[in-house]
This record gives sequence, C-alpha cells and structure tokens, in this order.
Amino acid sequence: MSENIWDKLPHGFTVLAPMEGVTDVMFRQVVAKAGRPDLFYTEFTNVSSFASEKGRFNALERLAVVPSDVPIVAQIWGKNPAHFAELAGALAGLGFDGLDINMGCPDRHVNKAGGGAAMIRTPELAVECVREAKKATKLPVSVKTRLGYTYLEEFREWLPVLLRESIAAVTVHLRTRKEMSKVPAHYELIPEIVQLRDEIAPGTKLVINGDIKDLQQVQELKMQHPQVDGYMIGRGVFENPYCFTEHAATKEELLKLLELHLDLFDAEDAKHCAAQAELMRENPEFALKMDGKVRGLPFEPLKHFFKIYVKGFPGASELRAKMMECKTTEEVRRVLRVLN
Ligand SMILES: Cc1cc2nc3c(=O)[nH]c(=O)nc-3n(C[C@H](O)[C@H](O)[C@H](O)COP(=O)(O)O)c2cc1C
Repeated sequence: MSENIWDKLPHGFTVLAPMEGVTDVMFRQVVAKAGRPDLFYTEFTNVSSFASEKGRFNALERLAVVPSDVPIVAQIWGKNPAHFAELAGALAGLGFDGLDINMGCPDRHVNKAGGGAAMIRTPELAVECVREAKKATKLPVSVKTRLGYTYLEEFREWLPVLLRESIAAVTVHLRTRKEMSKVPAHYELIPEIVQLRDEIAPGTKLVINGDIKDLQQVQELKMQHPQVDGYMIGRGVFENPYCFTEHAATKEELLKLLELHLDLFDAEDAKHCAAQAELMRENPEFALKMDGKVRGLPFEPLKHFFKIYVKGFPGASELRAKMMECKTTEEVRRVLRVLN
C-alpha cells in the first residue's frame, strides 16, 4: 500500500467523529482553535445527491475544506456503486486526504434508502461500493461501521468482509445498529477485533469509536489496547470542545469560542448567499426553483451549539434561555454584551 494519510498519523491518533449537523466547516474551525484532533471528518454526503444537478450545490457546500481542517477525510454514503465512483473521483480535487464510506448510520431514512448500517445486510453491495470508490480515486478509502445490524456476533462475519478489501482504515463504532447509542460501547470486544484485523489485514488501521470522552480516556484505552491505531471522539466534543487537549477550559475561553462560531456563521452565510446568487444568474432553472430569492443559512440549527459554550457558571442557563430567543447572530452578540 503506498503511503497515505493514515500511514502518516501517529500511533494512537485522535479523530473528530463525523456528525451530521455538527461537524460542518464552521464547527471544525472552532474545534481546531480549541485543540485539534489528528484527523477531521466531514458530515456525511449522499453520493446520489452529488450525482444529481439539483443536489450538487448542497453537496459541494458540505464538502468545503479550509486550511485548518487538513488532514481531512470526506465521509460519503449511498448505495449506488456508480454514484460512489462519481463522487470519489471528485474528492481529491476538493482538497481531501481520504474518503470514508458510512456503513453504520442507524437513521431509518438512510437505512430505507439502502445506505449506512443497511450495508451490513447487503455485504456484496458494500464490497462493490468500496471497489468502485477505490477504482475512481487515488485517495485512501476507509469505512466506518458498527458491530452488526441486529446481533453483536455479526461482527465476526461482517468485519472480515471489509478487511478482505484491504481498506486503508476501518472505524468500528462498538455497538450494533439495533443498540443505537442506548447501551455502553462494547470495549470487551476490542481484543477480538484487533485479532481479526491482524489476521486478515494487518495494513488496515483500526479506529475505535463509542463513548470516548476525551484525551485522558484515550490514554487509558491506549494502555489497555496498544494495538489499536486510533480513537474517534463524537459526543465528547459537546461536553468539552477542548476534549482533544489536556486543557481545562475557562468560561472566558468557551465564550470566545462561541464568538468565533458566530463570526464563522456570518462569513459562511455571506459565501452561501453569493454562491446562490451566482448560480441563479448562470442557471435559470435553479433561479426558478428558488423563486428568484437568495436564501441565507438557517439560523435555528446554530442554536444547538449554544449549550456547548454557555454552561457551568452562575447564570449560564438564564443566559442560554435568552440566546435561544434570538433570531440573528447580532441579537446573540447583544445578549452576550450584557455579560461584559
Ligand atoms: C448528532 C450526530 C450526528 C452523527 N452523524 C454521523 C455521520 O454523519 N456519519 C457517521 O458516520 N456517524 C455519525 N454519527 C455517529 C458518530 O460519528 C459516532 O459514531 C457516535 O456518536 C458514537 O461516538 P461517541 O460515543 O463518541 O459519540 C453521528 C452522531 C451524532 C450524535
């Protein structure tokens, strides 16, 4: 296997998990500012939406990369092998260091469409999608998956299917699809998973995911399982955006991160509106679909992030309640000014 980003990462590397509606280009910059992981992932992008003219505008926005993101892996999902090839072929040109296929998402809509964890039940199709992606790009192809769809034991058949494809890395979220996130991650299975990897594909990096909160927990897991190559943290970043460091954040630092997030939102919004206006000028059909109106980024989803930054100090919940009533970034800034 030629040298790729996975080979360059330090042993026991850290990864920010792909999270839909969370790890967009703005939040990744916030995490990079607080303390970066060794590797970033995007939110997942649907291969068939990229393949359609209508969906490409949104897909490309989701696949925006900025310098502080690097190295970064684009995560994609779907079930159409030709569409995997099409998007895989475009990713290197967009600045990515790798391509990851989502075979673990438990969302009903995604699974009904045959993607995410549904791939565990269609191993032949899963293999075909991996192969098509590999043929279409020189980027390393990896997979993020779960132990099984319904039963824990499925991992003994499912992981070998992936490992036999000599993928660059496999990330195992240590739960089944059925378990969602309702039970503790099955750390007890790590030794057996390491053994499967060592026997079938020693060159494939093994990344473990599920309930890992911060760097301290990564250090503990490293001591227990030195053969694991990397550790992926998802929801831990909600509790502590500094989770990839040993730093204990102060209230002031968290509020500075919030200000940064607001500024990044405004900048992305301006870019989004300019790109939309240009596309409307070039493409009358798109203009018709948009009723000739430029639409800014929705503000409501930004509110999900407030609890990450405004917590743990006297008056935090009252402040957050006021912020939740805001409708613009400027209104949020006004509420925050009262603090100073
Ligand atoms: C809000 C949210 C969105 C997610 N979106 C994705 C996604 O787009 N792709 C993916 O592979 N996993 C996604 N996941 C799953 C996480 O990547 C991760 O596997 C899961 O949260 C378990 O790790 P944790 O216990 O560290 O959070 C998402 C999880 C959350 C909470």
